[in-house]
Amino acid sequence: MKASKPALYRRPLPPHILAMALLKIARMGHPVLRGVAGPIADPSAPWVRRLVADMVETMEDAGGTGIAAPQVHQSWRIVVFCVPEERLSDMAGDVAQDLTVLINPVVETIGAERALGWEGCLSVPGLRGVVPRHLRVRYRGTGLDGEVIEREVEGFHARVVQHECDHLDGILYPQRMTDHRLLVFLDELQRHPIDLAAFLAEKRAA
Ligand code: NI
Repeated sequence: MKASKPALYRRPLPPHILAMALLKIARMGHPVLRGVAGPIADPSAPWVRRLVADMVETMEDAGGTGIAAPQVHQSWRIVVFCVPEERLSDMAGDVAQDLTVLINPVVETIGAERALGWEGCLSVPGLRGVVPRHLRVRYRGTGLDGEVIEREVEGFHARVVQHECDHLDGILYPQRMTDHRLLVFLDELQRHPIDLAAFLAEKRAA
């Protein structure tokens, strides 16, 4: 620790706070978001723990639900995410989740059923889009202590995982969209709400 800290910070802070940092978020167009991220050989390595702490701090500061390492210019197979209670569908397998850290995740779809839903992304600021995603997935990965995490989930939880893991293969949600009329600025969407069910019914009738 430096001897010449400003007076304001003279009180000792817990070391994990001093160690954390906000990272710069890569935006759509930056090549790191198009690359295939590399696997982590040792999930319990100290540099992985530090990167994850910084990713969590960056995600929380930016108000995101999840973030993948390539989004902070680190092309590694790491995602972190939460599944907040208020976003859940009424599906039984759509369960809220406190912060999950997944290293080297593998996502396997279950069945062919898909659903449309709104998504946003810290790398595509200001926009929202309607994206088809598999309704059910099984995912597997490793936590920071090397423990295996394996879950079968549905609905919004499944959507978040598919979105975050897509980042590891260089895919952003607009690439998954099937109707780009539903790629809109969030502030316009708030001014001019879109009733998705009505929009789709109209589309089917046309
Ligand atoms: Ni994203």
